[in-house]
Amino acid sequence: MKVLVVGSGGREHALAWALSRSPRLSELHAAPGNPGIAALANCHPVHADDQASLVPLAGELGIDLVVVGPEAPLVAGLADELRHRGVAVFGPGAGAARIEGSKAFSKEVMDAAGVPTARSLAIARPPCVVKADGLAAGKGVWVCHTQAELDAGLRAAESLGQPFHVEELLEGEEVSLFALCDGTNVVPLPAAQDYKRIGEGDEGPNTGGMGSYSPVPRLSEAELAELADAVCRPIIEELARRGSPFVGVLFAGVMLTDDGPRVLEYNCRFGDPETQSLLPRLEGDLLETLASAAAGRLSEASFTASESSAVTLVLAARDYPARGDSGSPITGIEEAEASGALVFHAGTALHDGRLVTNGGRILNVTALGDSIASARDAAYAAAAHIQFPGMRYRTDIAAFSRA
Ligand code: AMP
Ligand code: GLY
Repeated sequence: MKVLVVGSGGREHALAWALSRSPRLSELHAAPGNPGIAALANCHPVHADDQASLVPLAGELGIDLVVVGPEAPLVAGLADELRHRGVAVFGPGAGAARIEGSKAFSKEVMDAAGVPTARSLAIARPPCVVKADGLAAGKGVWVCHTQAELDAGLRAAESLGQPFHVEELLEGEEVSLFALCDGTNVVPLPAAQDYKRIGEGDEGPNTGGMGSYSPVPRLSEAELAELADAVCRPIIEELARRGSPFVGVLFAGVMLTDDGPRVLEYNCRFGDPETQSLLPRLEGDLLETLASAAAGRLSEASFTASESSAVTLVLAARDYPARGDSGSPITGIEEAEASGALVFHAGTALHDGRLVTNGGRILNVTALGDSIASARDAAYAAAAHIQFPGMRYRTDIAAFSRA
């Protein structure tokens, strides 16, 4: 099969890595990809949001399956356009991607499907959470404990110029749940945990994610299946009932509160950096699985999650998340890989044949182990080989395993 991966981050590098292990793969392409992906695929200089160029590119290359990484092209209808031209896609059409693209739509579907979520509040009073309605690249949510935080949150939400809503502030542990969907069938994947804040101890501003691990030991397999039944299956059924079947991966951000699980948000795609911890744990043929989902025949796919654990560290630029870095030389990746870790490129570029920084989150280092503690040790040992000016990473990813 000829496969095209759309996107350029660490998630897409992990997808390309896992797809490249499939015996069914004949050609792997990426748009636009990155220097890490270029070692596995032919990269084409077409941006993930450039639908007008991506659709003909898939046609010219004779692509059998497009795997879309980021949310923006899905929300903009890339999958619809490709399907319209007869190209199979792993990723939902615009109608189903609204589950991520509009918080108001997502709340409405949750209510209709009977999924537990945070209560909407008519009056903004702390503690509460202010959320912009549309896509805001992780920057549209303000968790407000005090009146000062609420004032600042409301000001920031208004300045985005889109509608926003206010909901109750929930307390608990957050988990990322993933379910593969073919429009009808739902197959849960292992859960993962993400670290959203920039600083140790979950201090500082939100980021795209600073690290992840999988599995989540506090959730047994039975609890995970129960959660998928409570928060993924009803959404898939509701979207199908509305004529927008969801094909792709439904990602539920869930808070495990004292009163039970509550959904914080749905995403219409794989998580980043959760995917980097998830995919190396899967045994089986990812290409076959994603192609089966795209064809509406997910029940035929066979894969299992291994017993191993995975920990992913995000190596970020000095001033991330305020700003990224570009042009600083990166060294030590080969040494990190030689230690047995996987190094996924997230924000890199090649300048005159030299690998340099090009973004906020620069690299992801993923290690496997027979426990989270051993995966964690291996990931930190591997990351110690890598250097670029200003490199920063959290030192407490998966540190609970020491407790
Ligand atoms: P979202 O984009 O909706 O997932 O929000 C981003 C982050 O904000 C989440 O991962 C949570 O850490 C936090 N958050 C969102 N909604 C709530 C809520 N109702 N209560 C507490 N924290 C929340
Ligand atoms: N890691 C969170 C996300 O991908 O949205």
